[in-house]
Amino acid sequence: MLLGSNEERLLQNSFSVIEDNFSDVVDAFYEEFFRRHPEYAGLFKKGNADARKKQMARALVNVVKYASEPQKLRTSLARLGRQHGQMGVKAVYYNQMIEVMLDVLAVFCGRYWNEQVRAAWHHALLDGAKIMIMAYRGGKTG
Ligand code: HEM
Repeated sequence: MLLGSNEERLLQNSFSVIEDNFSDVVDAFYEEFFRRHPEYAGLFKKGNADARKKQMARALVNVVKYASEPQKLRTSLARLGRQHGQMGVKAVYYNQMIEVMLDVLAVFCGRYWNEQVRAAWHHALLDGAKIMIMAYRGGKTG
């Protein structure tokens, strides 16, 4: 589903608030993700945390940048999705990850955050996750 222009504006505006601190956002995200879901720590290889954070940050920036034209990301997200499938990442994990990301974004966006901004981010992240999941679930996202 394509994001509406209002959602895209909310996304870009809120992103501009946190852009300069984005590596702190990514750090906080991983800390909170492993605090809430220690059961997933075993999936992640020890020792390449910095590289992974940079790649994850790049993937998220792209989700924001291309929110209104997700077809541009389809090939790279599908490839990423197949890699995640091979690593044992299940479809249900994505919702848990997105919940953590939205809560961390709320903290960093502070007074710029509200229900509509949350909905816009949720929409963009879900669209990205769906493309990743479809790449290894043969079209089923449930
Ligand atoms: C929108 C959702 C997600 C995005 C955009 C994303 C993005 C990325 C990127 C860009 C990488 C680096 C790939 C590479 O090494 O070339 C990565 C690695 C990884 N991701 Fe994700 N990811 C998402 C969801 C998830 C979820 C839900 C899990 C599991 C709970 C997960 C687990 C992993 C693991 C285990 C790695 C490998 C890290 C390592 O080697 O230590 N990802 N992810």
